[in-house]
Amino acid sequence: MNRPRVIVNCAMSVDGKIALPTRKQLRISSDEDIKRMYKLRHESDAVLVGIETILSDNPKLTVKEKYIDNPKQPIRIILDSNCRTPEDALAVNNAAKTIIITSKKCNKKYNDNVEIIECETDDENQIDLNYLLELLYNLKIKNLMVEGGSTIIWSFLNKRLVDDLYLYMAPIIIGGANTPTMADGKGIKDIDELITLEIIEVRKLGPGILFHFKMIK
Ligand SMILES: NC(=O)c1ccc[n+]([C@@H]2O[C@H](COP(=O)([O-])OP(=O)(O)OC[C@H]3O[C@@H](n4cnc5c(N)ncnc54)[C@H](OP(=O)(O)O)[C@@H]3O)[C@@H](O)[C@H]2O)c1
Repeated sequence: MNRPRVIVNCAMSVDGKIALPTRKQLRISSDEDIKRMYKLRHESDAVLVGIETILSDNPKLTVKEKYIDNPKQPIRIILDSNCRTPEDALAVNNAAKTIIITSKKCNKKYNDNVEIIECETDDENQIDLNYLLELLYNLKIKNLMVEGGSTIIWSFLNKRLVDDLYLYMAPIIIGGANTPTMADGKGIKDIDELITLEIIEVRKLGPGILFHFKMIK
């Protein structure tokens, strides 16, 4: 199958949490990591998030000039089966092109920079990621940055569709049994389904640590 290179990027606390217990966003990355994250966005053809990240964080998903000179804005992709993306969400503003991936007809009215693509679903009734990646490849998206949240990252890892994983660990603890972690979803059923990674690099970045993993398929 022809598909883009998939790079997952995520910032977590020492206890593996990626948001507040209320699921609201908090700043986990340091300035140094934010700069690295923007560079990765700038170098990617597209950035992808799930609908719950749009609803909880309302991110713009663009590259800020403050961090990158002459930024190139990647296409923003939202996995949103039921077309819940609000018409005034920042990720569908005029700053860049956005593709909303749904599994049914969408009657919302977005601006002209927004394209809605209906996609096949898998046996769990979610957007079929294999189908999606082939579709994105045919749209000339060769480098895809997946930014979250936990359910989306789990799905990409579980389907073994991740090439690189960049994980910034900040020296903070958030706690909370139901606080989102880097990979939630259903989790593996048995030990033979373990997802294994190879460590490529570990380095200190500002006050935290940056891990670069590759997935062992
Ligand atoms: N620290 C970080 O780096 C970081 C980055 C991003 C987000 N976050 C945090 O992550 C949390 C949101 O994560 P979340 O797990 O609640 O939601 P999410 O991963 O953002 O979105 C999940 C939703 O995406 C849709 N979806 C469509 N196709 C899917 C597929 N194949 N696999 C999985 N989901 C699919 C589903 O909704 P439909 O069925 O309606 O389509 C699903 O419920 C927030 O608290 C946010 O702050 C943290």
